[in-house]
Amino acid sequence: MGKDYSKYFTPSLRDARKRINRETQVIKYTLPSYLENIGRNKTYHIKTYGCQGNLADSEKMAGILEAMGYQMVDEEFHADIIIFNTCAIRENAESRVFGELGRIKGLKQQNPDLLLAICGCMPQEENVVSRILEKYPHVDIIFGTHNIHKLGEYIYDAYLSKERVVEVFSKEGEIIEGLPSKRDHNAKAWVNIMYGCDEFCTYCIVPYTRGKERSRLPEDVISEVEELAKQGYKEVTLLGQNVNAYGKDLDMNYTFANLLDDLNKIDIPRIRFTTSHPRDLDDETIEVMAKRGNIMPHLHLPVQSGSNSVLKKMNRKYTKEIYLEKIKKLKELIPDISITTDIIVGFPTETDEDFKATLDLVKEVGFEGAFTFIFSPREGTPAARYEDDTSMEVKKARLQELNDLINEGYLTGNKRFEGKTVKVLVDGKSIKDPNILTGYTEHNKVVNFPGTEDLIGKIVNVKIEKAYTWHLRGIVE
Ligand code: SAH
Ligand code: SF4
Ligand code: F3S
Repeated sequence: MGKDYSKYFTPSLRDARKRINRETQVIKYTLPSYLENIGRNKTYHIKTYGCQGNLADSEKMAGILEAMGYQMVDEEFHADIIIFNTCAIRENAESRVFGELGRIKGLKQQNPDLLLAICGCMPQEENVVSRILEKYPHVDIIFGTHNIHKLGEYIYDAYLSKERVVEVFSKEGEIIEGLPSKRDHNAKAWVNIMYGCDEFCTYCIVPYTRGKERSRLPEDVISEVEELAKQGYKEVTLLGQNVNAYGKDLDMNYTFANLLDDLNKIDIPRIRFTTSHPRDLDDETIEVMAKRGNIMPHLHLPVQSGSNSVLKKMNRKYTKEIYLEKIKKLKELIPDISITTDIIVGFPTETDEDFKATLDLVKEVGFEGAFTFIFSPREGTPAARYEDDTSMEVKKARLQELNDLINEGYLTGNKRFEGKTVKVLVDGKSIKDPNILTGYTEHNKVVNFPGTEDLIGKIVNVKIEKAYTWHLRGIVE
């Protein structure tokens, strides 16, 4: 008999808000031996939504599944288990998943042995779990962000019992080291440096779905990057919701700047990191970035708004002036740096004037790219209760105006490379034309150029002939 899930752990956003000051346990993962052959001759398919954190989690789940004998398939209708790794950041992200869950019901009717699992940020919300329990009886397994390492056990239990397996923890768990990972790319890798977020921006669900900030130990991060370098990886992206807070919970006087500096000594061509928080981005980090080495001259620094009153209501804990001060320092020390950002329009009470302040800031900084969003109220967050008197029509018009300006920034940012030779890490073939390769420059610009398959995964010099809004075009030198 499998475990009894009838008294399952349901999530609670209220509990998830609590921050308990206790030390995080680090646990070493091993796959229980009874799970080793469960997946023999069986296949899996994972659908990933949301941020890089979820992409990294999906690679770990794939690692666990492969250790159990499962094989990956690209087509969901060939799979014996389908996993939805979900995102809760905005309402449309959630609606898409519900749509897909409805659509997939037919597959379950064709193949009653098919297992359907949902995990990630959505099941951390109680309203989502009750909706699935009520309206989507064909979902077999529900778990959250704190227990992906138990995937194997859930599958085992779901095969054994005819009951649904539901286990979502609202309190952040331990840090699990040593999870196998089946990485999607063989030249670029994600490396988590920390989990969770303690910022509590008033619009954001992440501190509830991912729990409190927990940093991995420096030696664990460093040895993972060393291992990747040894395996021939060319690029590592360090992941955390607020990487600049790295180490603060470790009580060992070791900061993100220290970590970057140590990783700069490893023989791997490229280190990137995301996401930075403007308040916590410190001079030491900028100084380490300025040493260059393998640290890439690109920074994604979400500003969210250019209006101080909106920033205050968002609980961002910095002003426009502080943000601009950091940009100044970055440009002084790293003159060719490319800076990108995230912006939310239509935050409750945002006036035309507030919005204009955002446009002015965008012009002043000269962002070379941005992700822009219309505010989406998330149940359980403070901003969902704020009075909002701006119509959707106005919000959409603001988004359009902002995007037009941002697109100019993309083009200007690309234009500065016309006639120059840049280093490109080749990702693969272009979808539109198999004779064209595509990859990223050090400044994180997309480059398309004619070339042959053998260059994939390598870093090549490309002379840029022409800049467009979304990409550069060049030839190999
Ligand atoms: N930790 C990162 C990324 C968080 S999510 C950071 O702090 O920047 C990525 C982006 O989604 C955020 O930067 C924000 O611009 C946007 N976002 C988050 N919650 C949102 C909401 N409720 N509505 C609209 N956009 C949101
Ligand atoms: Fe969300 Fe703010 Fe944390 Fe980013 S820093 S994940 S926007 S609460
Ligand atoms: Fe989405 Fe969760 Fe990432 S809400 S953005 S998948 S942390």
